[in-house]
Amino acid sequence: MKNEILTALRKSGDGYLSGEMISQMLGVSRTAIWKHIKQLKEEGYVIESVTHKGYRLIESPIDLDEAQLSHALANSCFIEGVYYMDTVDSTNLEAKRIESKHPSGNAFIYAREQTLGKGRMGRSWESKKDEGLWMSLLLRPKVRPEMASQITLIAAAAVAEAIDKVAGVSTGIKWPNDVVLKGKKISGILTEMSAELNQVHYIVLGVGINISQMEFNDLLNDKATSLKLVTGKEPSKLNLIKEFVQSFEMYYNQFVSEFSAQKAVEFNRTKSVTVGKQVYIVREGMAIVAYANAIDDAGRLIVTYADGQTEAIHYGEVSVRGINGYVPS
Ligand code: BTN
Repeated sequence: MKNEILTALRKSGDGYLSGEMISQMLGVSRTAIWKHIKQLKEEGYVIESVTHKGYRLIESPIDLDEAQLSHALANSCFIEGVYYMDTVDSTNLEAKRIESKHPSGNAFIYAREQTLGKGRMGRSWESKKDEGLWMSLLLRPKVRPEMASQITLIAAAAVAEAIDKVAGVSTGIKWPNDVVLKGKKISGILTEMSAELNQVHYIVLGVGINISQMEFNDLLNDKATSLKLVTGKEPSKLNLIKEFVQSFEMYYNQFVSEFSAQKAVEFNRTKSVTVGKQVYIVREGMAIVAYANAIDDAGRLIVTYADGQTEAIHYGEVSVRGINGYVPS
């Protein structure tokens, strides 16, 4: 009920909404409305109450609350379930826990904080409260497992597009799944899958976007950045989510209807900071220098080694690093 009240107050903007109006809209008594408003004030919402006029929302204690997220994604045909959490171990783990509640639909999981945020290759992902967007999509594409890696390219395209639009910057994509800004990582993507040999059960796509960190630990300092560090401003988390979901849905629809990620692959090509550069291909601890030629239509990185041999590299097989630093230069 509190979420519905917040949504109603937000819709009325600078205007007042009387207790009577809210109680009619939501079909509950005025006393119930009054109690919920009291609770919201206790939670830190600044709500002005004026006799004979009603209520007006002045300020929220957090920049993205459950009411805003649910309202923003309520009309999405693409997302069936929306989960908002103050704290969770990992949104990817949560997606796997709620997977059976959505046997045929997609779900979106958002957390303000992760206590066990997961990165690629067993690494951890720093996810302090409200410092970034920590979110996962539970997806059920009817595709063969070998196609699933293309979801990562789709996500990278959607993240880069959303950040550029909302924060007014120009990101790059470090193949296959890091979105970079000014030579450092601004977003990471972790795609996990449950599948049989010939059929995907579900995919969990986890996305982390660094927003307001002003510093990172010693290990990350050289390679991670946040939107606030680069632009001096914190973009709206809600707008970033809306743009990400809209863009992701567009690429994903092509993927599930045509079994092709062509549009996302093309976008990745235009944004690639890897193609045309010398890179290290790191496989089982061994780093080999190669030249990154292109991204093929299946989203693989085509590289040529010093001995002239060419290889098409699949996502997940190797890690790709710049010769002089994290981003190829
Ligand atoms: C990487 O670059 O190593 C991938 C990082 C992925 C981080 C996100 S944050 C939301 C989701 N939940 C997790 O535990 N990890 C992903």
